[in-house]
Amino acid sequence: MKILILNGSPHPHGNTQALIDAFKEGAIAKGHEVKEADVARMNIHGCLGCEYCHTRGSGSCIQRDDMQKVYPLLQQAEVLVLASPIYYHGFSGQLKCAIDRLYAIGAPGQLKLRRIAMLLSSGADQVYEGAVYSFNEDFVNFLGLENAGIVTAYGSENKSEAKLQEARALGASL
Ligand SMILES: Cc1cc2nc3c(=O)[nH]c(=O)nc-3n(C[C@H](O)[C@H](O)[C@H](O)COP(=O)(O)O)c2cc1C
Repeated sequence: MKILILNGSPHPHGNTQALIDAFKEGAIAKGHEVKEADVARMNIHGCLGCEYCHTRGSGSCIQRDDMQKVYPLLQQAEVLVLASPIYYHGFSGQLKCAIDRLYAIGAPGQLKLRRIAMLLSSGADQVYEGAVYSFNEDFVNFLGLENAGIVTAYGSENKSEAKLQEARALGASL
């Protein structure tokens, strides 16, 4: 399967990246094709809500930023993985910008996407409700994707072998 990871962490050697690397290891070992878009380090602006995409643009976004590199990856992917540090009880703003920009192409049934997974890292425990709410409402209920699983790691769990193994197993389970 073609898997696309949207990485919302700005830290290339951080806790979110550790979960991603373990997930990738598991998925690649099973023969899946994995691509990663480091949306936190790309130039991706927030949605303007101009509706160009749903009118004259016929599905293309009027903003000519790095999201134009992510759209084709989203259109090819069968599995989407949202990976993010928790910032103020939700996804990082950078990942949220990329998610909002799905609006141009992401009507239910329009994409090849079938499944969704999520990797979250945080300082504290029990801070995931915001991200999980969006995962369930936007991706499972609205877009109709199958929940493939969620791995979270907080505090000293970050980069622990137990959590990396959990992420590896999620990647291998797809
Ligand atoms: C702007 C900002 C906001 C944060 N907000 C939270 C929060 O609300 N709850 C929490 O538990 N951790 C919070 N954290 C901590 C990060 O989620 C945590 O350090 C995470 O492991 C960072 O992942 P990274 O290494 O991929 O950047 C915040 C960190 C930053 C920089």
